[in-house]
Amino acid sequence: MSRKMTLGKKNGETEGLQMNEENLWCLKEDGYDPGLHKHYEGLFTQGNGYMHVRGSFEEGCSDAPQDEEYLRFPDNVTLEKPRHPKSKQGTFIPGIVGRHPLLKEEIVNLPYYLGLEFLSAGERLDMDRCRISGYQRWLDLRDGSLHRSVVWETAAGMKLHCTFTRYLSMAETHLCIQQVQLEVLSGEGRLEVKATLRADVRTNGMNHFARIVPSADSEGSLSLETLTEEGNQIFMLSALEASEAIVWHAENTRMTAALRGECRLRTGDRLTVSKLTTVTTDRDMEEGTARDRAFTHLGHAGNLGWEQMYNRHAAKWKSKWQYADIRIKGDDAAQINVRASLYHLIRSNAEQDARVAICAKGYAGEAYFGRYFWDTEINLLPFFLHTNPQAARNLLLFRYNTLEGARRNARNYGYRGARYAWESSLSGEEQCANWQYADHEIHVTADIVYALYHYVNATGDDEFLERYGIDILVETARYWCDRVDWNREGYGELLGVMGPDEYLPFTRNNAFTNRMVKFSLEQTVASLDSLQSGKPDSYAAVAERLGLRPDERELFRHTAEKLRLPYNSQMEIVPQSDDFAGYADVEFDSLWTDRSRPFGHFISQERNYRSKALKQADVLELMLLFPQEFSHEQLKAAYAYYEPITTHDSSLSVAVHGIVASWLNHKEEAAAFLQRVMAIDFSPEKKGAAEGIHIANCGGLWQLIVYGFAGLASAMWSDTIKLQPRLPEGWEELSFQIVWRGSTTG
Ligand code: BGC
Repeated sequence: MSRKMTLGKKNGETEGLQMNEENLWCLKEDGYDPGLHKHYEGLFTQGNGYMHVRGSFEEGCSDAPQDEEYLRFPDNVTLEKPRHPKSKQGTFIPGIVGRHPLLKEEIVNLPYYLGLEFLSAGERLDMDRCRISGYQRWLDLRDGSLHRSVVWETAAGMKLHCTFTRYLSMAETHLCIQQVQLEVLSGEGRLEVKATLRADVRTNGMNHFARIVPSADSEGSLSLETLTEEGNQIFMLSALEASEAIVWHAENTRMTAALRGECRLRTGDRLTVSKLTTVTTDRDMEEGTARDRAFTHLGHAGNLGWEQMYNRHAAKWKSKWQYADIRIKGDDAAQINVRASLYHLIRSNAEQDARVAICAKGYAGEAYFGRYFWDTEINLLPFFLHTNPQAARNLLLFRYNTLEGARRNARNYGYRGARYAWESSLSGEEQCANWQYADHEIHVTADIVYALYHYVNATGDDEFLERYGIDILVETARYWCDRVDWNREGYGELLGVMGPDEYLPFTRNNAFTNRMVKFSLEQTVASLDSLQSGKPDSYAAVAERLGLRPDERELFRHTAEKLRLPYNSQMEIVPQSDDFAGYADVEFDSLWTDRSRPFGHFISQERNYRSKALKQADVLELMLLFPQEFSHEQLKAAYAYYEPITTHDSSLSVAVHGIVASWLNHKEEAAAFLQRVMAIDFSPEKKGAAEGIHIANCGGLWQLIVYGFAGLASAMWSDTIKLQPRLPEGWEELSFQIVWRGSTTG
């Protein structure tokens, strides 16, 4: 491969763009603060759908071992105190999971392949221990490349300007490209370089690796073959190149493949070291062994050369941005944060692989174990529907592919049909270790059906419903018919339910849940009716495949019709559930003495569960999804009543409130919610990204702008594009493109 190792754009160069434009595309960390290290690791996560790597330093960081073993217990993730105060590296490939004895399935944090260390006369470059100045780091959202620039004054008297650059190729998704340049500003001496692939990594305290085979050769190539306890094989292969003649020596240990080399440098010299790593697994969709494919990928990269490799990667990002970007004139802070959210949404999605979806932390941390929640259908899907329908389709196909797991869940509870998991594994089975959510937060099963229709209405892809959706509809309808209890008046009820508000675990007839279930049953009946009359052959095939009896449709129809809603159009305030009024009032001011921390920290769970304190939007979420069914007065009354008793302890809450505030034309409040949405991951004070990205909130931000400020009528209920803009103060212009029923409008 050619020695010219420019990654396309040189560090700090603006490539003809105005500096301001650069600021609007680069997420920056100015100055190094060890206390924020973990936050930026999450925030600067890079990914390309296939794999994701947290924004850790190449050389690691002192006093932050990555192989600490402990037993993490099932707990409430929102309130749990996380481990690893300083740093947690993270390398994730959606689909590579392991078993935890208490927490069930979890995504495996894979070996760390970014390792590049530098030593001067025995002193290791270490951001916390060395003499460092001029620190700057930024993530360029245009192409997902991460850059760091520091000056290191070594104890031996050399002054080195070090620049680090890396990206995970969006075009060749198995490749990671790294480059480090060291320019000697003054002094001279020997400099050692050590490149590693390290398997001393634990996931939530667990070791998931059964066998590790490190290897390195003096030609500058190193590999690490890892077999997980579940039997997955991961092969990492790196090739090193340096601008100076370096003789490499293998320094492998039991868990690490390592090469060490050295050179002598003088004032004015520049040493450039590049590391090209390819990662393959036995789970990949391509043919051939992981090992063989890794060598093929590396050979392909060699043929392309650095520049072409970068250009192909950058072109892919460019095409994604063409559809996804939102441009805001007049509010630079919002502009950069919105783009950063869109960046994480784009990179989290494996648009070609329907065996996985998007996990709750956007593959940027271990906290939620890589599992799938309703977040996907309700919070993330709208963004994909209108920017990348193929990706949206794949997300729904994931639910179709996991229908068998959902059937097993239903059986485990003694029901017929299919019950989607609150926290889904790869196979669709329930993984939530906490009974409150696993047993009672059943709305997810209906949310998936809502999302199916949202997809069909937004794209016009009716065939999807016929080929895949219908199975989901029938099977989930069967489950609902078993789950409903019948009261003496002949009405169906859903008892013992947790709605979206997770601070009330066991309520009667939650308005959101009952409406979603009613919708789901109604649509099932309508779809079966129209299939039977419009395409009798297809209907016959479905009936046979699913063993559908004619009387079942009547049962679905009857259940839909008789399922009680705890509200009607005459009520001023739509109750969250039948029993909501009976819960205890809370004296928020005396109890919640520090509003920068979650309310849940100030009250025992026992007391919280019998109090009128909402974790997140519930009735307002319902009104967002069925806006045409509620009057303006009801929306206004719901907002006025529920907002003051909502703690927003869940990151899914503020965006919903922002949208409703915007619909009500409460401009200041909507703008304040916008700030809160952005603070969730981007505020250094909150350090919110430390455990991963709140990806549902990223989708929520898109919705706040598109549904809230631009006032787009949801494709769920509108055939045509209708906008009703209400821009926040100071926004001069808002523009974006959307894909609507197959065509793109801007
Ligand atoms: C929220 C849920 C959400 C989950 C994963 C919880 O804190 O209450 O609504 O699905 O986080 O994001």
